[in-house]
Amino acid sequence: MISHQSAKEEIKQAADIVSVVGQFVQLRKAGENFVGLCPFHGEKAPSFTVNQDKQMFHCFGCKKGGDVFAFWMEYHSLSFPEALRDLAERYNVQLPEKHFTAEEKKKADYREKLYSISELATVYFRNELAHPVRGKPGRDYFKRRSIPHDIIEEFRLGYAPKGWDGLKRFLLGRNVSLETALAAGVLKRSDKGHYYDLFRERVMFPIMDLTQKRRVIAFGGRVLDDTLPKYVNTPETPLFHKGTCLYGFGAARRAIRETGRAVVVEGYMDCLALKKHGLKEVVATLGTALSETPVRKLKGIGKEAVVVFDADEAGKAAALRTLPIFLNERLSARAVVLPKGHDPDSFVNSNGREAFSKLLDAAPSLFDFYMDHKLGQGTENIDHKVNILEEILPILAKVHNETQRAMYIRRLSEKCEIAESVVISALRRAKQPALRDRQSSEIKRGLTSRDTNRSIGEIQFLNLLLHYPETVADLKGRHCRGLISDPMIRRIVDVIFEGSARSETMAFETIQERLDDHEDRVWLREFGFRPAFCSDREVKQAVRDFIQKAQKKKIEDSFKEAMGNPQALNEILKRKVAARGPFGS
Ligand code: GTP
Ligand code: MN
Repeated sequence: MISHQSAKEEIKQAADIVSVVGQFVQLRKAGENFVGLCPFHGEKAPSFTVNQDKQMFHCFGCKKGGDVFAFWMEYHSLSFPEALRDLAERYNVQLPEKHFTAEEKKKADYREKLYSISELATVYFRNELAHPVRGKPGRDYFKRRSIPHDIIEEFRLGYAPKGWDGLKRFLLGRNVSLETALAAGVLKRSDKGHYYDLFRERVMFPIMDLTQKRRVIAFGGRVLDDTLPKYVNTPETPLFHKGTCLYGFGAARRAIRETGRAVVVEGYMDCLALKKHGLKEVVATLGTALSETPVRKLKGIGKEAVVVFDADEAGKAAALRTLPIFLNERLSARAVVLPKGHDPDSFVNSNGREAFSKLLDAAPSLFDFYMDHKLGQGTENIDHKVNILEEILPILAKVHNETQRAMYIRRLSEKCEIAESVVISALRRAKQPALRDRQSSEIKRGLTSRDTNRSIGEIQFLNLLLHYPETVADLKGRHCRGLISDPMIRRIVDVIFEGSARSETMAFETIQERLDDHEDRVWLREFGFRPAFCSDREVKQAVRDFIQKAQKKKIEDSFKEAMGNPQALNEILKRKVAARGPFGS
Protein backbone atom coordinates (compact mmCIF):
# COMPACT_ATOMS: atom_id res chain seq x y z
CA MET A 1 0.00 0.00 0.00
CA ILE A 2 1.34 3.39 -0.90
CA SER A 3 1.75 6.17 1.60
CA HIS A 4 -0.53 9.14 1.91
CA GLN A 5 2.16 11.52 0.71
CA SER A 6 2.96 9.50 -2.37
CA ALA A 7 -0.74 9.07 -3.13
CA LYS A 8 -1.02 12.81 -2.95
CA GLU A 9 1.91 13.17 -5.30
CA GLU A 10 0.53 10.60 -7.67
CA ILE A 11 -2.83 12.35 -7.80
CA LYS A 12 -1.08 15.61 -8.48
CA GLN A 13 0.75 14.05 -11.39
CA ALA A 14 -2.51 12.84 -12.86
CA ALA A 15 -4.78 15.68 -11.89
CA ASP A 16 -3.10 18.62 -13.56
CA ILE A 17 -4.34 21.69 -11.74
CA VAL A 18 -5.02 23.61 -14.94
CA SER A 19 -7.30 20.92 -16.29
CA VAL A 20 -9.03 20.30 -12.96
CA VAL A 21 -9.68 23.98 -12.30
CA GLY A 22 -10.48 24.51 -15.98
CA GLN A 23 -13.53 22.31 -15.61
CA PHE A 24 -15.04 24.86 -13.27
CA VAL A 25 -13.43 28.17 -14.17
CA GLN A 26 -12.80 29.58 -17.63
CA LEU A 27 -9.06 30.08 -17.77
CA ARG A 28 -6.95 31.86 -20.30
CA LYS A 29 -3.21 31.92 -20.70
CA ALA A 30 -1.52 35.06 -19.45
CA GLY A 31 2.25 34.88 -19.56
CA GLU A 32 3.49 32.06 -17.38
CA ASN A 33 0.10 31.62 -15.73
CA PHE A 34 -3.51 30.99 -16.44
CA VAL A 35 -6.03 33.48 -15.19
CA GLY A 36 -9.77 33.57 -14.74
CA LEU A 37 -12.54 35.05 -12.64
CA CYS A 38 -12.32 33.82 -9.08
CA PRO A 39 -15.05 31.35 -8.12
CA PHE A 40 -14.64 32.27 -4.47
CA HIS A 41 -15.33 35.99 -4.47
CA GLY A 42 -17.00 38.47 -6.74
CA GLU A 43 -14.65 40.24 -9.06
CA LYS A 44 -14.55 42.14 -12.28
CA ALA A 45 -11.06 41.60 -13.53
CA PRO A 46 -9.48 38.16 -13.29
CA SER A 47 -7.14 37.91 -10.33
CA PHE A 48 -7.54 34.18 -9.93
CA THR A 49 -4.25 32.74 -11.12
CA VAL A 50 -3.16 29.19 -11.79
CA ASN A 51 0.43 28.18 -12.29
CA GLN A 52 1.06 24.90 -14.01
CA ASP A 53 4.72 24.53 -13.05
CA LYS A 54 4.01 24.99 -9.40
CA GLN A 55 0.64 23.25 -9.60
CA MET A 56 -0.76 26.02 -7.47
CA PHE A 57 -3.55 28.52 -7.67
CA HIS A 58 -3.81 31.84 -5.94
CA CYS A 59 -6.38 34.60 -6.02
CA PHE A 60 -4.80 38.02 -5.71
CA GLY A 61 -8.19 39.37 -4.70
CA CYS A 62 -9.41 37.14 -1.90
CA LYS A 63 -6.07 35.44 -1.18
CA LYS A 64 -7.47 31.95 -1.38
CA GLY A 65 -5.05 29.52 -2.91
CA GLY A 66 -3.09 26.33 -2.72
CA ASP A 67 -2.79 23.10 -4.64
CA VAL A 68 -5.33 21.04 -6.51
CA PHE A 69 -6.68 19.61 -3.23
CA ALA A 70 -7.17 23.06 -1.77
CA PHE A 71 -9.14 24.00 -4.86
CA TRP A 72 -11.31 20.91 -4.71
CA MET A 73 -12.03 21.40 -1.02
CA GLU A 74 -12.97 25.02 -1.39
CA TYR A 75 -15.02 24.64 -4.55
CA HIS A 76 -17.03 21.66 -3.39
CA SER A 77 -17.03 22.53 0.32
CA LEU A 78 -15.30 19.30 1.24
CA SER A 79 -12.85 18.27 3.92
CA PHE A 80 -9.33 17.31 2.94
CA PRO A 81 -9.83 13.53 3.14
CA GLU A 82 -12.95 13.84 1.01
CA ALA A 83 -11.15 15.88 -1.60
CA LEU A 84 -8.31 13.41 -1.60
CA ARG A 85 -10.67 10.49 -1.96
CA ASP A 86 -12.63 12.19 -4.72
CA LEU A 87 -9.62 13.04 -6.79
CA ALA A 88 -8.02 9.68 -6.13
CA GLU A 89 -11.08 7.96 -7.44
CA ARG A 90 -11.30 10.19 -10.45
CA TYR A 91 -7.68 9.64 -11.35
CA ASN A 92 -7.43 5.99 -10.36
CA VAL A 93 -4.97 6.35 -7.54
CA GLN A 94 -5.09 3.89 -4.67
CA LEU A 95 -5.46 5.58 -1.37
CA PRO A 96 -4.34 4.48 2.06
CA GLU A 97 -6.67 5.68 4.79
CA LYS A 98 -4.42 5.30 7.75
CA HIS A 99 -2.43 8.48 7.26
CA PHE A 100 -5.12 10.97 8.09
CA THR A 101 -4.98 12.64 11.46
CA ALA A 102 -7.54 11.41 13.96
CA GLU A 103 -9.33 14.72 13.71
CA GLU A 104 -9.51 14.62 9.90
CA LYS A 105 -10.64 11.05 9.95
CA LYS A 106 -13.39 11.73 12.44
CA LYS A 107 -14.77 14.63 10.47
CA ALA A 108 -14.60 12.75 7.19
CA ASP A 109 -16.24 9.70 8.69
CA TYR A 110 -19.06 11.79 10.06
CA ARG A 111 -19.70 13.50 6.74
CA GLU A 112 -19.45 10.16 5.01
CA LYS A 113 -22.21 8.90 7.28
CA LEU A 114 -24.38 11.85 6.33
CA TYR A 115 -23.78 11.11 2.64
CA SER A 116 -24.64 7.51 3.10
CA ILE A 117 -27.87 8.36 4.93
CA SER A 118 -28.85 10.66 2.07
CA GLU A 119 -28.09 7.84 -0.32
CA LEU A 120 -30.09 5.35 1.74
CA ALA A 121 -33.03 7.75 1.85
CA THR A 122 -32.83 8.18 -1.93
CA VAL A 123 -32.96 4.43 -2.35
CA TYR A 124 -35.85 4.19 0.09
CA PHE A 125 -37.88 6.87 -1.73
CA ARG A 126 -37.21 5.17 -5.06
CA ASN A 127 -38.25 1.79 -3.73
CA GLU A 128 -41.40 3.30 -2.34
CA LEU A 129 -42.19 4.94 -5.67
CA ALA A 130 -41.84 1.55 -7.30
CA HIS A 131 -43.97 -0.23 -4.69
CA PRO A 132 -47.10 -1.56 -6.39
CA VAL A 133 -49.47 -0.26 -3.71
CA ARG A 134 -47.72 2.37 -1.62
CA GLY A 135 -46.04 4.01 -4.61
CA LYS A 136 -49.16 4.45 -6.69
CA PRO A 137 -50.03 8.00 -5.56
CA GLY A 138 -46.49 9.12 -6.43
CA ARG A 139 -46.50 7.41 -9.81
CA ASP A 140 -49.90 8.89 -10.59
CA TYR A 141 -48.67 12.32 -9.63
CA PHE A 142 -45.68 12.16 -11.96
CA LYS A 143 -47.95 10.86 -14.69
CA ARG A 144 -50.30 13.77 -14.14
CA ARG A 145 -47.38 16.17 -14.42
CA SER A 146 -46.16 14.22 -17.47
CA ILE A 147 -42.78 13.36 -16.03
CA PRO A 148 -41.56 10.33 -18.01
CA HIS A 149 -39.72 7.30 -16.71
CA ASP A 150 -36.28 8.31 -17.99
CA ILE A 151 -36.43 11.62 -16.13
CA ILE A 152 -37.53 9.80 -12.97
CA GLU A 153 -34.49 7.56 -13.38
CA GLU A 154 -31.95 10.24 -14.25
CA PHE A 155 -33.00 12.54 -11.43
CA ARG A 156 -33.63 9.67 -9.05
CA LEU A 157 -37.09 10.91 -8.16
CA GLY A 158 -38.96 9.09 -5.46
CA TYR A 159 -41.95 9.02 -3.18
CA ALA A 160 -42.27 9.38 0.56
CA PRO A 161 -45.41 7.46 1.49
CA LYS A 162 -47.99 8.20 4.14
CA GLY A 163 -47.00 7.47 7.72
CA TRP A 164 -44.56 8.83 10.27
CA ASP A 165 -41.81 6.28 10.42
CA GLY A 166 -41.30 4.44 7.11
CA LEU A 167 -37.88 5.94 6.50
CA LYS A 168 -37.02 5.82 10.18
CA ARG A 169 -37.60 2.07 10.27
CA PHE A 170 -35.74 1.57 7.01
CA LEU A 171 -32.73 3.39 8.46
CA LEU A 172 -32.90 1.54 11.78
CA GLY A 173 -32.86 -1.69 9.82
CA ARG A 174 -29.54 -0.59 8.36
CA ASN A 175 -28.00 0.31 11.70
CA VAL A 176 -28.19 4.04 11.18
CA SER A 177 -28.27 6.06 14.39
CA LEU A 178 -31.35 8.24 14.56
CA GLU A 179 -29.32 11.13 15.80
CA THR A 180 -27.15 11.03 12.69
CA ALA A 181 -30.24 10.74 10.51
CA LEU A 182 -31.51 13.87 12.24
CA ALA A 183 -28.24 15.61 11.43
CA ALA A 184 -28.57 14.46 7.82
CA GLY A 185 -31.88 16.28 7.76
CA VAL A 186 -34.17 13.41 6.83
CA LEU A 187 -35.74 12.86 10.25
CA LYS A 188 -37.11 15.29 12.78
CA ARG A 189 -37.34 15.05 16.55
CA SER A 190 -40.39 16.07 18.53
CA ASP A 191 -40.20 18.06 21.76
CA LYS A 192 -40.72 14.80 23.58
CA GLY A 193 -37.72 13.29 21.84
CA HIS A 194 -39.52 11.08 19.32
CA TYR A 195 -37.93 10.78 15.92
CA TYR A 196 -40.15 10.85 12.83
CA ASP A 197 -39.93 11.20 9.05
CA LEU A 198 -39.63 14.75 7.77
CA PHE A 199 -41.09 13.85 4.35
CA ARG A 200 -44.53 12.26 4.29
CA GLU A 201 -46.88 11.82 1.33
CA ARG A 202 -44.62 13.79 -0.95
CA VAL A 203 -42.92 13.23 -4.28
CA MET A 204 -39.23 13.51 -3.70
CA PHE A 205 -36.54 15.41 -5.60
CA PRO A 206 -33.01 14.55 -4.50
CA ILE A 207 -30.60 17.48 -4.71
CA MET A 208 -27.17 16.38 -5.88
CA ASP A 209 -23.75 17.92 -5.66
CA LEU A 210 -21.47 18.93 -8.51
CA THR A 211 -18.91 16.17 -8.22
CA GLN A 212 -18.64 13.38 -10.72
CA LYS A 213 -20.58 11.02 -8.51
CA ARG A 214 -23.40 13.50 -8.04
CA ARG A 215 -23.91 12.53 -4.47
CA VAL A 216 -27.24 13.34 -2.93
CA ILE A 217 -26.92 16.06 -0.31
CA ALA A 218 -30.54 17.04 0.31
CA PHE A 219 -34.14 16.67 -0.81
CA GLY A 220 -37.09 18.70 -1.87
CA GLY A 221 -40.50 17.12 -1.38
CA ARG A 222 -43.79 18.23 -2.89
CA VAL A 223 -47.29 17.49 -1.67
CA LEU A 224 -49.65 15.78 -4.09
CA ASP A 225 -52.44 18.30 -3.69
CA ASP A 226 -52.92 21.89 -2.58
CA THR A 227 -51.96 21.39 1.03
CA LEU A 228 -49.42 23.80 2.45
CA PRO A 229 -46.53 23.99 2.59
CA LYS A 230 -46.29 22.94 -1.04
CA TYR A 231 -42.62 22.09 -0.77
CA VAL A 232 -40.49 20.96 2.11
CA ASN A 233 -36.71 21.05 1.82
CA THR A 234 -34.02 19.44 3.92
CA PRO A 235 -32.86 21.98 6.50
CA GLU A 236 -29.27 23.24 6.49
CA THR A 237 -26.89 20.38 7.26
CA PRO A 238 -23.11 20.03 7.09
CA LEU A 239 -23.62 18.85 3.49
CA PHE A 240 -26.33 21.21 2.37
CA HIS A 241 -26.30 24.98 2.20
CA LYS A 242 -29.44 25.97 0.43
CA GLY A 243 -28.35 29.33 -0.91
CA THR A 244 -25.33 27.87 -2.67
CA CYS A 245 -27.12 25.06 -4.52
CA LEU A 246 -28.90 24.86 -7.81
CA TYR A 247 -31.17 21.97 -8.63
CA GLY A 248 -30.06 19.98 -11.67
CA PHE A 249 -26.68 21.71 -11.89
CA GLY A 250 -24.62 18.53 -12.12
CA ALA A 251 -26.73 17.19 -14.94
CA ALA A 252 -26.62 20.52 -16.76
CA ARG A 253 -22.94 21.29 -16.42
CA ARG A 254 -21.74 19.82 -19.67
CA ALA A 255 -24.59 21.40 -21.66
CA ILE A 256 -23.95 24.80 -20.08
CA ARG A 257 -20.34 24.53 -21.10
CA GLU A 258 -21.23 23.46 -24.62
CA THR A 259 -23.97 25.99 -25.28
CA GLY A 260 -22.33 28.73 -23.21
CA ARG A 261 -25.70 29.40 -21.70
CA ALA A 262 -27.45 28.51 -18.47
CA VAL A 263 -31.20 28.69 -18.30
CA VAL A 264 -32.27 29.44 -14.75
CA VAL A 265 -35.82 28.69 -13.61
CA GLU A 266 -37.49 28.81 -10.23
CA GLY A 267 -38.90 25.37 -9.61
CA TYR A 268 -38.02 21.68 -9.58
CA MET A 269 -40.89 20.87 -11.89
CA ASP A 270 -39.94 23.64 -14.30
CA CYS A 271 -36.43 22.30 -14.48
CA LEU A 272 -37.57 18.74 -15.16
CA ALA A 273 -40.21 19.75 -17.71
CA LEU A 274 -37.60 21.61 -19.74
CA LYS A 275 -35.13 18.73 -19.44
CA LYS A 276 -37.83 16.43 -20.70
CA HIS A 277 -38.23 18.63 -23.76
CA GLY A 278 -34.53 18.35 -24.45
CA LEU A 279 -33.28 21.60 -22.97
CA LYS A 280 -30.28 20.30 -21.14
CA GLU A 281 -28.69 23.53 -19.89
CA VAL A 282 -31.38 24.24 -17.33
CA VAL A 283 -31.03 24.60 -13.57
CA ALA A 284 -33.45 25.68 -10.86
CA THR A 285 -33.07 27.80 -7.77
CA LEU A 286 -34.40 26.20 -4.64
CA GLY A 287 -37.12 28.71 -4.06
CA THR A 288 -34.64 31.20 -2.65
CA ALA A 289 -33.45 34.31 -4.42
CA LEU A 290 -30.46 33.67 -6.61
CA SER A 291 -27.30 34.45 -4.66
CA GLU A 292 -23.71 35.20 -5.57
CA THR A 293 -22.29 31.73 -5.04
CA PRO A 294 -24.29 29.88 -7.69
CA VAL A 295 -23.90 32.78 -10.11
CA ARG A 296 -20.15 32.56 -9.68
CA LYS A 297 -20.28 28.87 -10.39
CA LEU A 298 -22.36 29.42 -13.51
CA LYS A 299 -19.95 32.09 -14.63
CA GLY A 300 -17.14 29.60 -14.40
CA ILE A 301 -18.58 27.42 -17.10
CA GLY A 302 -21.02 29.48 -19.16
CA LYS A 303 -21.01 32.84 -20.87
CA GLU A 304 -24.49 33.99 -20.02
CA ALA A 305 -27.55 33.18 -17.98
CA VAL A 306 -31.10 33.40 -19.21
CA VAL A 307 -33.35 33.73 -16.21
CA VAL A 308 -36.97 32.75 -16.62
CA PHE A 309 -39.58 34.40 -14.45
CA ASP A 310 -43.27 34.02 -13.94
CA ALA A 311 -45.42 36.86 -15.21
CA ASP A 312 -46.86 37.69 -11.81
CA GLU A 313 -45.63 40.56 -9.67
CA ALA A 314 -43.62 38.24 -7.44
CA GLY A 315 -41.84 36.89 -10.51
CA LYS A 316 -41.04 40.36 -11.77
CA ALA A 317 -39.82 41.47 -8.39
CA ALA A 318 -37.55 38.43 -8.26
CA ALA A 319 -36.18 39.33 -11.70
CA LEU A 320 -35.38 42.83 -10.55
CA ARG A 321 -33.62 41.62 -7.43
CA THR A 322 -31.23 39.43 -9.36
CA LEU A 323 -29.93 42.24 -11.56
CA PRO A 324 -27.34 43.64 -9.13
CA ILE A 325 -25.99 40.14 -8.54
CA PHE A 326 -25.39 39.51 -12.22
CA LEU A 327 -23.87 42.93 -12.68
CA ASN A 328 -21.62 42.49 -9.66
CA GLU A 329 -20.51 39.08 -10.79
CA ARG A 330 -20.24 40.28 -14.37
CA LEU A 331 -22.19 37.48 -15.89
CA SER A 332 -24.35 38.63 -18.78
CA ALA A 333 -27.95 37.90 -18.05
CA ARG A 334 -31.13 38.08 -20.02
CA ALA A 335 -34.66 37.83 -18.74
CA VAL A 336 -37.60 35.89 -20.06
CA VAL A 337 -40.94 36.85 -18.65
CA LEU A 338 -43.53 34.26 -19.50
CA PRO A 339 -47.03 35.03 -20.73
CA LYS A 340 -49.53 35.57 -17.95
CA GLY A 341 -50.64 32.48 -16.13
CA HIS A 342 -47.67 30.38 -17.23
CA ASP A 343 -44.62 29.00 -15.58
CA PRO A 344 -41.90 27.26 -17.63
CA ASP A 345 -43.45 23.87 -16.93
CA SER A 346 -46.92 24.76 -18.15
CA PHE A 347 -45.57 26.82 -21.03
CA VAL A 348 -43.31 24.17 -22.50
CA ASN A 349 -45.87 21.44 -21.97
CA SER A 350 -48.55 23.33 -23.84
CA ASN A 351 -46.46 25.17 -26.45
CA GLY A 352 -43.48 22.88 -26.95
CA ARG A 353 -39.73 23.29 -27.03
CA GLU A 354 -39.60 25.44 -30.17
CA ALA A 355 -41.83 28.11 -28.70
CA PHE A 356 -39.80 28.13 -25.51
CA SER A 357 -36.54 28.40 -27.43
CA LYS A 358 -37.92 31.40 -29.30
CA LEU A 359 -38.62 33.09 -25.99
CA LEU A 360 -35.08 32.38 -24.87
CA ASP A 361 -33.56 33.71 -28.08
CA ALA A 362 -35.61 36.88 -28.00
CA ALA A 363 -35.01 37.60 -24.32
CA PRO A 364 -33.89 41.18 -23.62
CA SER A 365 -30.98 41.87 -21.34
CA LEU A 366 -31.90 41.90 -17.70
CA PHE A 367 -30.97 45.56 -17.57
CA ASP A 368 -33.33 46.44 -20.41
CA PHE A 369 -36.02 44.53 -18.69
CA TYR A 370 -35.33 46.39 -15.50
CA MET A 371 -35.44 49.80 -17.15
CA ASP A 372 -38.57 49.06 -19.12
CA HIS A 373 -40.27 47.85 -16.03
CA LYS A 374 -39.33 50.90 -14.00
CA LEU A 375 -40.08 53.38 -16.76
CA GLY A 376 -43.22 51.62 -17.79
CA GLN A 377 -44.79 52.92 -14.63
CA GLY A 378 -45.12 56.38 -16.21
CA THR A 379 -42.67 59.25 -16.46
CA GLU A 380 -44.96 62.27 -16.51
CA ASN A 381 -44.42 63.30 -12.96
CA ILE A 382 -41.11 65.01 -12.27
CA ASP A 383 -40.70 63.59 -8.78
CA HIS A 384 -41.30 60.15 -10.15
CA LYS A 385 -38.60 60.69 -12.79
CA VAL A 386 -36.12 61.72 -10.16
CA ASN A 387 -36.98 58.68 -8.09
CA ILE A 388 -36.46 56.37 -11.02
CA LEU A 389 -33.17 57.98 -11.86
CA GLU A 390 -31.95 57.61 -8.30
CA GLU A 391 -32.88 53.98 -8.31
CA ILE A 392 -31.40 53.12 -11.67
CA LEU A 393 -28.14 55.09 -11.51
CA PRO A 394 -26.33 52.98 -8.89
CA ILE A 395 -27.23 49.91 -10.92
CA LEU A 396 -26.22 51.53 -14.20
CA ALA A 397 -22.90 52.37 -12.58
CA LYS A 398 -22.25 48.66 -12.34
CA VAL A 399 -22.58 48.06 -16.07
CA HIS A 400 -18.98 47.60 -17.06
CA ASN A 401 -19.22 47.34 -20.79
CA GLU A 402 -18.81 50.89 -22.03
CA THR A 403 -20.76 50.58 -25.24
CA GLN A 404 -23.57 49.01 -23.36
CA ARG A 405 -23.48 51.66 -20.69
CA ALA A 406 -23.52 54.43 -23.29
CA MET A 407 -26.54 52.83 -24.90
CA TYR A 408 -28.39 52.59 -21.62
CA ILE A 409 -27.57 56.18 -20.77
CA ARG A 410 -29.09 57.31 -24.04
CA ARG A 411 -32.20 55.21 -23.49
CA LEU A 412 -32.60 56.45 -19.97
CA SER A 413 -32.24 60.06 -21.02
CA GLU A 414 -34.77 59.61 -23.84
CA LYS A 415 -37.28 57.85 -21.71
CA CYS A 416 -37.03 60.22 -18.78
CA GLU A 417 -36.55 63.26 -21.04
CA ILE A 418 -33.47 64.33 -19.16
CA ALA A 419 -30.40 65.56 -21.07
CA GLU A 420 -27.77 62.88 -21.55
CA SER A 421 -25.09 65.09 -20.02
CA VAL A 422 -27.13 65.34 -16.84
CA VAL A 423 -27.48 61.57 -16.64
CA ILE A 424 -23.75 61.18 -17.18
CA SER A 425 -22.75 63.58 -14.45
CA ALA A 426 -25.29 62.09 -12.06
CA LEU A 427 -23.88 58.71 -12.90
CA ARG A 428 -20.37 59.86 -12.11
CA ARG A 429 -21.51 60.97 -8.68
CA ALA A 430 -23.31 57.70 -8.12
CA LYS A 431 -20.19 55.79 -9.01
CA GLN A 432 -17.74 57.52 -6.76
CA PRO A 433 -18.45 56.02 -3.35
CA ALA A 434 -18.39 52.50 -4.70
CA LEU A 435 -15.13 53.18 -6.45
CA ARG A 436 -13.54 54.63 -3.35
CA ASP A 437 -14.66 51.74 -1.19
CA ARG A 438 -13.35 49.22 -3.59
CA GLN A 439 -10.01 50.86 -4.03
CA SER A 440 -9.43 51.32 -0.36
CA SER A 441 -10.40 47.76 0.46
CA GLU A 442 -8.18 46.48 -2.31
CA ILE A 443 -5.32 48.49 -1.00
CA LYS A 444 -5.98 47.26 2.50
CA ARG A 445 -6.03 43.69 1.38
CA GLY A 446 -3.32 44.10 -1.18
CA LEU A 447 0.24 43.11 -1.00
CA THR A 448 1.56 46.28 -2.47
CA SER A 449 1.14 48.33 0.66
CA ARG A 450 2.72 45.66 2.80
CA ASP A 451 5.64 45.33 0.46
CA THR A 452 6.50 48.98 0.48
CA ASN A 453 7.67 48.46 4.05
CA ARG A 454 10.10 45.79 2.95
CA SER A 455 13.37 46.63 1.32
CA ILE A 456 13.83 45.66 -2.30
CA GLY A 457 17.01 43.82 -1.39
CA GLU A 458 15.20 41.43 0.97
CA ILE A 459 12.49 40.83 -1.56
CA GLN A 460 15.03 40.08 -4.25
CA PHE A 461 16.95 37.80 -1.96
CA LEU A 462 13.91 35.64 -1.31
CA ASN A 463 12.96 35.78 -4.97
CA LEU A 464 16.41 34.41 -5.85
CA LEU A 465 16.17 31.55 -3.36
CA LEU A 466 12.77 30.55 -4.67
CA HIS A 467 13.44 30.79 -8.36
CA TYR A 468 16.95 29.39 -8.25
CA PRO A 469 17.01 26.80 -5.45
CA GLU A 470 20.55 25.86 -6.43
CA THR A 471 21.71 29.16 -4.95
CA VAL A 472 20.54 28.16 -1.47
CA ALA A 473 23.63 26.09 -0.79
CA ASP A 474 25.90 29.01 -1.80
CA LEU A 475 24.05 31.59 0.20
CA LYS A 476 23.39 29.87 3.47
CA GLY A 477 26.05 30.22 6.13
CA ARG A 478 27.35 33.40 4.50
CA HIS A 479 25.70 35.75 6.99
CA CYS A 480 22.99 36.53 4.46
CA ARG A 481 20.39 36.19 7.14
CA GLY A 482 21.76 39.44 8.57
CA LEU A 483 20.59 41.25 5.44
CA ILE A 484 17.01 40.61 6.35
CA SER A 485 15.26 42.74 8.88
CA ASP A 486 11.71 41.82 8.01
CA PRO A 487 10.56 39.16 10.48
CA MET A 488 8.35 37.34 8.01
CA ILE A 489 10.94 37.08 5.28
CA ARG A 490 13.34 35.94 7.96
CA ARG A 491 10.98 33.14 8.97
CA ILE A 492 10.68 32.02 5.38
CA VAL A 493 14.39 32.18 4.72
CA ASP A 494 15.03 30.22 7.91
CA VAL A 495 12.77 27.44 6.68
CA ILE A 496 14.61 27.36 3.38
CA PHE A 497 18.04 27.33 5.00
CA GLU A 498 17.06 24.71 7.57
CA GLY A 499 15.85 22.43 4.80
CA SER A 500 19.05 22.93 2.93
CA ALA A 501 21.06 22.16 6.06
CA ARG A 502 19.42 18.75 6.01
CA SER A 503 20.34 18.68 2.30
CA GLU A 504 16.71 18.52 1.23
CA THR A 505 15.64 20.01 -2.05
CA MET A 506 12.49 21.69 -1.01
CA ALA A 507 9.57 22.15 -3.30
CA PHE A 508 7.85 25.47 -3.07
CA GLU A 509 4.95 23.74 -1.45
CA THR A 510 7.05 22.15 1.26
CA ILE A 511 8.39 25.53 2.24
CA GLN A 512 4.83 26.75 2.58
CA GLU A 513 3.81 23.76 4.64
CA ARG A 514 6.63 24.32 7.10
CA LEU A 515 5.58 27.85 7.88
CA ASP A 516 3.59 28.03 11.08
CA ASP A 517 1.78 31.21 10.36
CA HIS A 518 -1.19 31.22 7.98
CA GLU A 519 -0.49 34.76 6.85
CA ASP A 520 3.09 33.86 6.02
CA ARG A 521 1.87 31.01 3.87
CA VAL A 522 -0.59 33.16 1.97
CA TRP A 523 1.99 35.85 1.46
CA LEU A 524 4.57 33.37 0.22
CA ARG A 525 2.15 31.72 -2.18
CA GLU A 526 1.36 35.05 -3.73
CA PHE A 527 5.01 35.97 -3.77
CA GLY A 528 5.78 32.73 -5.60
CA PHE A 529 3.69 33.91 -8.54
CA ARG A 530 6.10 36.74 -9.23
CA PRO A 531 8.64 36.15 -11.95
CA ALA A 532 12.34 35.90 -11.19
CA PHE A 533 13.95 39.31 -10.85
CA CYS A 534 17.07 38.21 -12.67
CA SER A 535 17.75 36.04 -15.69
CA ASP A 536 19.63 32.73 -15.65
CA ARG A 537 22.76 34.51 -16.76
CA GLU A 538 22.61 37.00 -13.95
CA VAL A 539 22.22 34.48 -11.17
CA LYS A 540 25.88 34.04 -10.37
CA GLN A 541 26.44 37.76 -10.18
CA ALA A 542 23.41 38.16 -7.94
CA VAL A 543 24.75 35.52 -5.57
CA ARG A 544 28.12 37.26 -5.42
CA ASP A 545 26.46 40.60 -4.77
CA PHE A 546 24.44 39.23 -1.90
CA ILE A 547 27.40 37.51 -0.31
CA GLN A 548 29.46 40.65 -0.53
CA LYS A 549 26.66 42.76 0.88
CA ALA A 550 26.17 40.30 3.70
CA GLN A 551 29.82 40.34 4.62
CA LYS A 552 29.93 44.10 4.58
CA LYS A 553 26.88 44.21 6.78
CA LYS A 554 28.39 41.73 9.17
CA ILE A 555 31.51 43.85 9.54
CA GLU A 556 29.52 47.02 10.00
CA ASP A 557 27.43 45.37 12.66
CA SER A 558 30.39 44.17 14.61
CA PHE A 559 31.91 47.59 14.14
CA LYS A 560 29.00 49.14 15.91
CA GLU A 561 29.25 46.59 18.63
CA ALA A 562 32.99 47.05 19.06
CA MET A 563 32.96 50.82 19.41
CA GLY A 564 34.92 51.58 22.54
CA ASN A 565 36.88 48.33 22.38
CA PRO A 566 40.12 49.17 20.52
CA GLN A 567 41.37 45.62 20.34
CA ALA A 568 38.21 44.28 18.78
CA LEU A 569 38.12 47.23 16.44
CA ASN A 570 41.59 46.46 15.24
CA GLU A 571 40.59 42.88 14.47
CA ILE A 572 37.64 44.05 12.48
CA LEU A 573 39.64 46.48 10.42
CA LYS A 574 42.03 43.71 9.50
CA ARG A 575 39.13 41.55 8.39
CA LYS A 576 37.59 44.38 6.45
CA VAL A 577 40.73 44.90 4.44
CA ALA A 578 40.87 41.22 3.70
CA ALA A 579 37.25 41.13 2.62
CA ARG A 580 37.70 44.04 0.27
CA GLY A 581 40.43 42.35 -1.62
CA PRO A 582 43.51 44.03 -3.01
CA PHE A 583 41.72 46.80 -4.86
CA GLY A 584 39.17 47.80 -2.28
CA SER A 585 35.49 48.39 -3.02
P1 GTP B 1 -45.41 23.18 -8.99
O1 GTP B 1 -46.57 23.82 -8.33
O2 GTP B 1 -45.20 21.78 -8.57
O3 GTP B 1 -45.39 23.39 -10.46
O4 GTP B 1 -44.16 23.85 -8.40
P2 GTP B 1 -43.49 25.18 -8.86
O5 GTP B 1 -42.06 24.88 -8.91
O6 GTP B 1 -44.13 25.74 -10.06
O7 GTP B 1 -43.81 26.07 -7.62
P3 GTP B 1 -43.63 27.58 -7.40
O8 GTP B 1 -43.48 28.32 -8.66
O9 GTP B 1 -44.78 27.92 -6.49
O10 GTP B 1 -42.30 27.62 -6.56
C1 GTP B 1 -41.03 27.61 -7.15
C2 GTP B 1 -40.06 26.98 -6.20
O11 GTP B 1 -40.11 27.61 -4.95
C3 GTP B 1 -40.36 25.52 -5.89
O12 GTP B 1 -39.83 24.65 -6.84
C4 GTP B 1 -39.71 25.36 -4.55
O13 GTP B 1 -38.30 25.18 -4.67
C5 GTP B 1 -39.96 26.68 -3.90
N1 GTP B 1 -41.20 26.64 -3.09
C6 GTP B 1 -42.45 26.84 -3.49
N2 GTP B 1 -43.30 26.70 -2.47
C7 GTP B 1 -42.58 26.41 -1.39
C8 GTP B 1 -42.86 26.13 -0.03
O14 GTP B 1 -44.02 26.11 0.40
N3 GTP B 1 -41.82 25.88 0.79
C9 GTP B 1 -40.53 25.87 0.35
N4 GTP B 1 -39.54 25.61 1.22
N5 GTP B 1 -40.23 26.12 -0.93
C10 GTP B 1 -41.22 26.38 -1.79
MN1 MN C 1 -45.22 25.07 -11.59
